[in-house]
Amino acid sequence: MKHLISIRDLTRDSAVALLDSAQQLSQVNQRTVKSLPALRGKTVVNLFYENSTRTRISFEIAAKRLSADVINFDAQASSASKGESLKDTAQTLEALGAAAIIVRHPMSGAAHALANRGWVSASIINAGDGRHEHPTQALLDALTIRQLKLSGSDLTGVKVLIVGDLEHSRVARSNILLLSLLGAAVSVAGPAELVPEGIAAMGAKVYKSFDEALAEQPDVVMMLRVQLERMLKNEAFTTRDYVKNWSLDQTRLGQLGKETVIMHPGPMNRGLEISNQAANDPRSAVLRQVENGLAVRMAVLHRVLSGEVTN
Ligand code: CP
Repeated sequence: MKHLISIRDLTRDSAVALLDSAQQLSQVNQRTVKSLPALRGKTVVNLFYENSTRTRISFEIAAKRLSADVINFDAQASSASKGESLKDTAQTLEALGAAAIIVRHPMSGAAHALANRGWVSASIINAGDGRHEHPTQALLDALTIRQLKLSGSDLTGVKVLIVGDLEHSRVARSNILLLSLLGAAVSVAGPAELVPEGIAAMGAKVYKSFDEALAEQPDVVMMLRVQLERMLKNEAFTTRDYVKNWSLDQTRLGQLGKETVIMHPGPMNRGLEISNQAANDPRSAVLRQVENGLAVRMAVLHRVLSGEVTN
């Protein structure tokens, strides 16, 4: 595997192999000496045109744990602010020695363009492109579910409900594809104006009501961030209606099973899509998701730069 642009790049076997590899690498993160020599001499660039806390920092730590050199590109402090194109920027980074470029970009398809138009020969990893995909987020979510639901190597039989702003969510798209590939039963629920056409064709059952979907007793409830920054001014959205119908509030929290896993990719809008009580509940896996992001990104970097899985 040279690039990771979309979950569609993976087969069920290659996805399971990546999760197994991440599980094994997570043990490195528990050791006193947390580094491996696997990528010594390779240079990895974080090319982020959108803000990020979890993804950028975990890719940086992941690359360092594998002994790669890491460069962080800040679009606002770079010549991108003078109009330099994505193509010219990537070619410049490759001329400076980048073996892998991890790209986050507001335009859907940006990572695909970098990987497939022959602009650069470096490995490209998609760290989120517009509304399209965020494949490493889905992998870390799948690893988290696998650890907590003890369902063997894949997710056969696990019921996952994804709730909220599906329209703008690359996290939801990657998760629907990956969790379905791994055998989970994926359903979604969200306000009509934030449920895009085609989501059912991706393999998800669509509910029009959060409460109706919760009555099916999902094993995992994954709340999505309301992406206010991507909404057009004329989109019908009111915080009061959203909280009433779509928030994982105290009442809905009480309807979850004792073992139901609460997930959120972060950053959370506490008090909007998720209440403080739900975010802080013992069933919340939010910080475990972050922790697993490190192991998953180590596995992905190792895979694309060495051509191997670690197990
Ligand atoms: N989940 C996620 O992608 O978070 P960041 O935007 O902080 O990277």
